[in-house]
Amino acid sequence: SGLQNWTPSTPIDPALSEAAHHLRTTPIPVAFPTETVYGLGADATRSDAVKGIYTAKGRPSDNPLIVHVCDLDMLRRLLRGTDERKEGDEDPIPAVYKPLIEKFWPGPLTILLPLPEPSPLAPEVSAGLPTFGARMPASPLAKSLIKLVGAPLAAPSANASTRPSPTSAQHVADDLNGRIQVILDDGEICGVGVESTVVDGLCSPPVVLRPGGVGIEELRTVPGWEKVEKAYKDGAENGAAAPRAPGMKYKHYSPRAKVVLYEAGHKGKEGFSHEDFQDAVEGEETKKTVGFIRTGGWPLFGGLAAVESVKDGILPGKVREGLSSQGEAEFKRVLDIDLGSDVKGVAQGLFGALREMDTHGADVVYVEGVSDADDIAAAVMNRLRKAASVVKS
Ligand code: TXA
Ligand code: MG
Repeated sequence: SGLQNWTPSTPIDPALSEAAHHLRTTPIPVAFPTETVYGLGADATRSDAVKGIYTAKGRPSDNPLIVHVCDLDMLRRLLRGTDERKEGDEDPIPAVYKPLIEKFWPGPLTILLPLPEPSPLAPEVSAGLPTFGARMPASPLAKSLIKLVGAPLAAPSANASTRPSPTSAQHVADDLNGRIQVILDDGEICGVGVESTVVDGLCSPPVVLRPGGVGIEELRTVPGWEKVEKAYKDGAENGAAAPRAPGMKYKHYSPRAKVVLYEAGHKGKEGFSHEDFQDAVEGEETKKTVGFIRTGGWPLFGGLAAVESVKDGILPGKVREGLSSQGEAEFKRVLDIDLGSDVKGVAQGLFGALREMDTHGADVVYVEGVSDADDIAAAVMNRLRKAASVVKS
């Protein structure tokens, strides 16, 4: 696969080799697509380059980065701390991860590994922790880039700090224009749409530190991972009973608009009801732009008399715009994005939808949650709970 099969007569994409050259010779990071979200990469072995990531993103330097490798050889060299391999050396990859790697790599899974002593990684990668996160992305473009650079790439998501992660090259440009010089664009929306699942198998039982593209039930099918536990908190553990106060959250994944999240099954209902919609629109001041991101799979405007002047398709993307009136001439601008009810589609479209709402000037966005019983839905709800300033359950 990838570069291994390229013969000298196969021209390497000039954009790719230019990006690799940029990564080898400058301290400015390069944005590249992965199957989860766009990453903002730098040579993980060079401090100046890794510092460039924190600068471009405006990221707090105590938040560690994920190290991306193109193959297991690269990971082993990194763990040994040397390119040399002695006869009889044991595999430096901890046994607990072998079946996991077998099943999920390349793919949306990040594993925590002990930092080698001495470490070839720039200290800024692990931000003072004794471990580092590693993953092998599935995107052929990402793997080719890492291989061409010849070094592992440290890469967080390529958004400006606190903004929703980018799932297209345009999202990266919107956030980081003027701060970076190269964005590799494969012309597609990232397939998974939410970040990788981060797991720690160095403790017992193993834990999930961040839900992501690989679901906890999928992890539990792997030998040694049957008892994997959830070790992250997103507010759902208390039954999400009380609406959380604005400002009490760790701001993350957020559009500029205020986000109001309706948990699945709130008030015992499946999703938004006609009543919820009217409460939402009537509760907001006139002249406010009110956005809806729906996952219930039913038409918002069709069944609702309160919305008039629906202008389908006048805005780019999947946004529909209309005006809502409550009797008199009190119109409010209403934006609507239907992500469909398939949870994979919801995950893929989620960050883009939050960004679209900002682009179109939403002041407040009401989001219809999905049931987070398992799989990628847990990641979707985790991101939404972090983005929301009000959660209705
Ligand atoms: O899908 C993804 O993981 C994307 C793409 C670009 O690969 N990357 C990504 O990176 O989401 P970032 O930096 O936005 O998130 C990295 C997560 C953070 O939650 C960070 O705290 C955690 O991984 N992490 C990294 N190293 C860690 C460590 N040594 N111990 C605990 N958590 C760690
Ligand atoms: Mg991120």
